[in-house]
Amino acid sequence: MAFEDKIKELLQKRELAKLGGGQKRIETQHRKGKLTARERIELLLDDGSFEEFDMFVTHRCTEFGLGDKHFYSDGVVTGYGTIDGRVVYVFAQDFTVFGGSLSLAYAEKICKVMDKALKMGAPVIGLNDSGGARIQEGVNSLAGYAEIFQRNIMASGVIPQISAIFGPCAGGAVYSPALTDFSVMTKENSYMFVTGPKVVKTVTGEEVTEQELGGALTHGTKSGVAHFIADDEREGILMIRKLISFLPQNNLEEPPLEPSDDPIDRLEDELNNIIPENPNKPYNVKDIIYPIVDHSEFMEVQRTYAQNIVTGFARFNGMSAGIVANQPNYLAGVLDINASRKAARFVRFCDAFNIPLVTLVDVPGFLPGITQEYGGIIIHGAKLLFAYGEATVPKVTVILRKAYGGAYCVMSSKHLRGDINYAWPMAEIAVMGPKGAIEVLKNKEIKNIDDEHDRNAFIAEHEEEYISKFATPYNAAKYGYIDDVIEPRNTRFRIIRALQSLATKKDVNPPKKHSNIPL
Ligand code: HXC
Repeated sequence: MAFEDKIKELLQKRELAKLGGGQKRIETQHRKGKLTARERIELLLDDGSFEEFDMFVTHRCTEFGLGDKHFYSDGVVTGYGTIDGRVVYVFAQDFTVFGGSLSLAYAEKICKVMDKALKMGAPVIGLNDSGGARIQEGVNSLAGYAEIFQRNIMASGVIPQISAIFGPCAGGAVYSPALTDFSVMTKENSYMFVTGPKVVKTVTGEEVTEQELGGALTHGTKSGVAHFIADDEREGILMIRKLISFLPQNNLEEPPLEPSDDPIDRLEDELNNIIPENPNKPYNVKDIIYPIVDHSEFMEVQRTYAQNIVTGFARFNGMSAGIVANQPNYLAGVLDINASRKAARFVRFCDAFNIPLVTLVDVPGFLPGITQEYGGIIIHGAKLLFAYGEATVPKVTVILRKAYGGAYCVMSSKHLRGDINYAWPMAEIAVMGPKGAIEVLKNKEIKNIDDEHDRNAFIAEHEEEYISKFATPYNAAKYGYIDDVIEPRNTRFRIIRALQSLATKKDVNPPKKHSNIPL
C-alpha cells in the first residue's frame, strides 16, 4: 500500500472510531438528552487539548456472537488533556458501544490512564454511562472492574479522583465512583444502585422507580453518595472544571494560588449584627461564608445532604481553603450521624490534598435520640473527631456562637491541634447550654419547688448567672484555648492573616501503616 493510502486508511479508521457504535446510536443518545463520550470530553477539556490513547483497541471476546462484532475504542474513550492549562487524565464511557458495558480490553484502557495519572501526579476524571459488566465476557469483566477498584484505592489520597454519572451505573460498577473523591450526578438521566428496581421487588417486595432508588435527588439528599447535582451534563462538566480549580494536582503539591483583587481588609459591618440576640433563633451561616471569602465565591459540596453542616471550597486572598460550618438554620446546626460523616470525609479530603481548613462553629451539641444512638452516632461522631485530630493542614477556627460539650472539642478545637482559634464576642463556650446546666446543677432545689411559675423563675435566675459566667468566649480565652476574640466584621481579614501565617506549617503524625479511623 502506498504511503498516501496508509495515511488515508489511518484517517478513515479514526473517523470510524469517532463514530463509536454508529450514527444511529449517537442519535438515540442525543434523543435521550445525553451527549456522547467524545462530546463530553470536548466540553470538559480546554479546546484542542485532548490526546487520545487506545483508539484502535477492540475486545477479544468470541462468545454470544461477539467474535464478528467489533467497534474501535470498545466503548470507552481515554486519554489526557488540560483544564485551565493543567493536565488531567480522563476516561468517558461510550454508551453507543454495547451499552457502554465493560470488557477486559475496556478495563485495561481505563487502568492505563489511571496508572499514568498516578505516575504523572495528575487528577483522573471518569465520566460514567454504562450498562455494567459486559455479560458476554463473564469473569473477565469482573476482573476488569476489580483492577480498576484496586487502582482507585492506590490513587486515593495521592491524586484527586472525580466521577461524573451521566447515565446508568449499576451493580458492582458503582464502587469505582464510590471510591473516588467526588461524584457529580445529573438530575434526569443518571442513576446508581447496587441492585435495580426489579431485584428489589423480588427480594424485598418494595416497588420503586429507578430514579427513586438511585437518581441524583436520592443520592444528593438521602444517601450522600453524590456530592454535586447538576441540571444537565453541561452544568455537571462545568462543576468538575470549577472543582479542579481549587485542587492541587497531587498530594505533594499545594493548591493553585489564584491572583485576587478582592481586598483582604474588607470590613463587613453587617456581620456585627448577624447573630440574633435570642440564642435559640437561627440564621443562615452561608450569610457569613459569602461575605468573608474572595468575591463571595463558595463551591458547596453535598449542598442538599445533611444540611446541618455546610462544607465546600472557597478562596481567601487567592488561597484555596475547605470550609466546614455548622448551619443553625437546619436542625439548629446539631451534629448528627450524617453531618458527622459528611464533614469527616471532607476534612480528610482537604487534609490529604494540603487544603487548609477554615471551621465556623455554631453547634449546640450532638443530636440526642434512640435513632441516633442505635445508628451509631458514637462511631460516626468519632469519625469527625478523628478527621480533625489527624489533619495536619493549617486549621483556622472561628466560634461564632454556640460551642457546647463534645461538639466544642470536635469542631477543630485548640485541643485537636487547631492552629489559630478565634471566637466572636457572642460565643458561648461551655459544657452545655444554660437551661440544661441549671437543671443538672440545681436538680435538688428545683425538685423541691412545687409551683411551676416559681420553678421557672428559679431556673431563669440561675440561667442568667450561668450565662454571665460560662456562656462567653472569655473563659476559653483565659486558658488560651481561644487565641483572640475578634470583631465579626473583621473576620475575613483575621482568617486571611491566620492562613498567611500558617502557609509554612509543618506537622507530622507518628509513623504507622495507616490509622484505624472508626469506620
Ligand atoms: C452487554 C449490554 C449490557 C451489558 C447493555 N448492553 N448492557 N451488553 N453487557 N451489561 C447492550 C444491549 O444489549 C443493547 O445492545 C445496547 O447495550 C443498549 O442497551 P439497551 O438495553 O437497548 O439500552 P437501554 O434501553 O437504554 O437500557 C440500558 C440499561 C440496560 C438499563 C443499562 O441495557 C440494562 O439493564 N443492561 C443490563 C444491566 C446489567 O444488568 N448489567 C450487569 C450489572 S452487574 P443492542 O445490540 O441490542 O442494541 C455488574 C457487575 C459489575 O455490572 C461487578 C463489578 C464488581
